[in-house]
Amino acid sequence: MKKCLQLIALASLVLMNNAFALFIPGVGEFVEVITAEQISKRAEELGSQIDQDYSDCQDPIIFICTLNGALFFTADLMKNVKHSSILETIRVSSYHGGLETSGTVKLKYDSLEGKSLEGKHVIVTEDIVDTGLTLQFIHSYLQSKNPASIRYASLVVKKDCQGANTPETTYVGFERSKEFLIGCGLDYQEEYRNLPGVWALETPIAND
Ligand code: PRP
Repeated sequence: MKKCLQLIALASLVLMNNAFALFIPGVGEFVEVITAEQISKRAEELGSQIDQDYSDCQDPIIFICTLNGALFFTADLMKNVKHSSILETIRVSSYHGGLETSGTVKLKYDSLEGKSLEGKHVIVTEDIVDTGLTLQFIHSYLQSKNPASIRYASLVVKKDCQGANTPETTYVGFERSKEFLIGCGLDYQEEYRNLPGVWALETPIAND
């Protein structure tokens, strides 16, 4: 009996560690704040909203996935859009795997090279809009290609963190506050993108 109770205690401890806390050495403890099920449901809702918004549009929607982070959300979202759609990708980087933006956004790759966006309807997908610098950069880059419209969709938008010149995100998955997030495309030093849900740094390790 004693052995049985000991086993139960051990199992719940493991379950607690797996389900509620994730520790990254040198960074701190993360808790899951958005589950995979919530993401799936939200992607369905946003997909329907996009279908409604583009119901009068005869042309395909050009989805531009911002690599690498938006890969997972873009797939979830596009699978829920019935309107004819085309997938393009753009690779920009400013965080270089760290906790804070470097302040400089660099274009590293663009699948649109040599293709015209003139008169096309574009939805740019992101995993997160944080300071908004990346969206500002992408917006001016794409505007120069004269599309008929550009809208933005993001899995997460951080509340009150963006500068005045940041274009509005029309399709918002979830609003979060100022916190460091990983999972569902969001990385720490390129790792943890494959977590199905989104996790927030709750207890950072003191750096002193
Ligand atoms: C991340 C994220 C967004 C951007 C948002 O990209 O994927 O594109 O930062 O931050 P901002 O609103 O402060 O500009 P990152 O440069 O880390 O590249 P990644 O997508 O490869 O992770």
